[in-house]
Amino acid sequence: MSHCWRLDDGRQTLVLATKGDLLPQVVYWGKPLPTSDTSAVLAEAHQQDFTGGMLDGNPDLSLCPEASQSFPGQPGLRCRNTQGALLHPKFRFLSAEESANNLVLTYQDTALGITYEANFVLTPQTGLITAWTRLTSTKPIWLQWLAAPVFPAPQNSSEMLDVSGRWIGEFQINTVPWSAGIHLRESRTGRSGHEHFPGLVIPESGTNNTTGQAYGFHYGWSGGHKMIAEELPDGRRQVQFGNATDSELTSGLQYETAKLYAVFSDQGLNGCAVAFQRHLRDHIVKFAKAAMPRPVHYNCWEAIYFDHDISVLKQIATKAKSLGAERFVLDDGWFGHRDDDTTSLGDWQIDSRKYPDGLGPIVDHVSALDMQFGLWFEPEMVSPNSALYRAHPDWVLGPADQLLGRKQMVLDMSLQEVSEYLFNSIAVLLRKYDITYIKWDHNRVLPISDADQTRASYALLARLQINFPHVEIETCASGGGRIDFGILNHTQRVWLSDSNDALERSRIQHAAALFLPSAVTGSHVGPRQCHTTGRVFNMEYRAWVAAQRHMGFEMDPRQISDLETQTLSDITQWYKDNRKWMMQADILRLDSSDPSVIAEMQLAQDRSRFVVFSNQLETSAQINPRPLRLTQLDPNDTYIVELKNPSAIHKLSRGNPLLKSRKLQISGAWLMAHGLNLPYTMPSSVWVVEGKKLSL
Ligand code: GLA
Repeated sequence: MSHCWRLDDGRQTLVLATKGDLLPQVVYWGKPLPTSDTSAVLAEAHQQDFTGGMLDGNPDLSLCPEASQSFPGQPGLRCRNTQGALLHPKFRFLSAEESANNLVLTYQDTALGITYEANFVLTPQTGLITAWTRLTSTKPIWLQWLAAPVFPAPQNSSEMLDVSGRWIGEFQINTVPWSAGIHLRESRTGRSGHEHFPGLVIPESGTNNTTGQAYGFHYGWSGGHKMIAEELPDGRRQVQFGNATDSELTSGLQYETAKLYAVFSDQGLNGCAVAFQRHLRDHIVKFAKAAMPRPVHYNCWEAIYFDHDISVLKQIATKAKSLGAERFVLDDGWFGHRDDDTTSLGDWQIDSRKYPDGLGPIVDHVSALDMQFGLWFEPEMVSPNSALYRAHPDWVLGPADQLLGRKQMVLDMSLQEVSEYLFNSIAVLLRKYDITYIKWDHNRVLPISDADQTRASYALLARLQINFPHVEIETCASGGGRIDFGILNHTQRVWLSDSNDALERSRIQHAAALFLPSAVTGSHVGPRQCHTTGRVFNMEYRAWVAAQRHMGFEMDPRQISDLETQTLSDITQWYKDNRKWMMQADILRLDSSDPSVIAEMQLAQDRSRFVVFSNQLETSAQINPRPLRLTQLDPNDTYIVELKNPSAIHKLSRGNPLLKSRKLQISGAWLMAHGLNLPYTMPSSVWVVEGKKLSL
């Protein structure tokens, strides 16, 4: 007897099959197949040969490759009994529940009393397959490693793209060649991390942003993960994602991986990116008021740091409002005795030296300006120099003599009294003041990798969400150290990076668009001279970079000139005029033929309009701009295309590319096959080009 299951959504077909009662394997995943190809035929046709020096068959690359089946690569499960002996389950079919887009497959090792369950949900609106594994045992076991359902990787691929990064340098895309053996990424810091964003995209040979086939993966877990991309001795390839090894610190009867999001694309890397963007925005993030436009932020961090003076803050809020801000976020420094970063985390009581009448006066001032008020917290942390630590040194996670990080330690969130204390400390402020936003920070790594910590943080966030559904939360961890679909199940915005350097920010946010939509991606106009790089950029550049995502300001607005004020107000108004469709748009990364230019296109959901941002990072090698090809337009439709920021035309642009002087009316076919001729421009500048279908 054999078993086969199939998921289809018109853009991809996924077929699982097995002979007998063994765990199934993916025998096909890719372009849609006709239903005349039965799963049984696909399973048989999938079989490969074997030769000398091999076993007398190819052990299945199953959803959980088993050591007990002589699998020649990394197994999908490693566990021990409570005496420490390694267990090698032999899973056999128990049951299958199948509906149009859902599949639950249950397998059991009756002798060991261990049950394996693989879950698949296909979301046809986005094309994402959500897959996770649950393991139950009748006797306590120690779990070392459990992979979410394992997918094969394509053979017609010479490299994979994964993501590394660092503070102020998030989302660095690495191209890693396939070779024999394992490519392993593991975040053991208890955060998804700057260093190892849990994502992988595998392009087939010849794929670029806009064309070709690719497979995308993202693991939605904030507690540190492991990723294995392995080429087996027989040439097959597998992709495994799960929680970091040994991050379950106690034995137990039940374990579950986080959700693995997987997608096949035949529209280049953008097909993966758009699926992730849409799925995150429309199926994971719960906005407090979905219909409310994403408000323009003002965040005071780079304006005042710890130096809180209420009269200064009021002036700043008033000026920010006049520039177009709609939400004012009071950052670090309002609580305890927090005059620098060495003290007071955990003491979530208002500093009466800085706020003698509490937060009322600043909240009221902001509310009177018709702005929302947001407040910074770093709940999971404690400063050794704090009243909380002095009262409860035993609330700390990890050893007492651990190395500090930013002079702070981490609270053990799984202690009931800790989460109770934090809930009450935050709730009292949310009840007392009109606070509709929290910036939730996490500025150090964990002393140990501990999955319970992440589960407890999620539980606290969920409890706050239930009690204060009108409050939105931003996930921050020294910038983008905790960004993943797990935390975004409980939050609504990411602080992508502490780098407000517009040039670097544009690279970071362009790369992050492989996974993140505009609606959740914070981007701020920083100070004229960037605080993290010392570089100086004009206001136009800073503002256009921020306007490409969820826009905000983060400088002292009292220090900007009249001209800068005008520029920023105008571009902010442009953001407001367009955000309704832009925050729902697909971000399509363009294949720029000039490495000095990164360019993207945001295409409205109804495809009636788009905006292109062409970012000149540095001076190009060739003298004239190369034409910029657009994508995903309707070839037979005519578009009206207009340069939105002609004021940026420099006198060194001496010729007359059409867009300099008038609108271009032309077919989608031409825009995609020839591409836009843009004027010559200076490094650190953005061309903004809008297009609309003529038929509108
Ligand atoms: C982190 C954040 C910053 C700011 C500071 C406050 O570094 O990334 O945006 O909130 O903490 O201490």
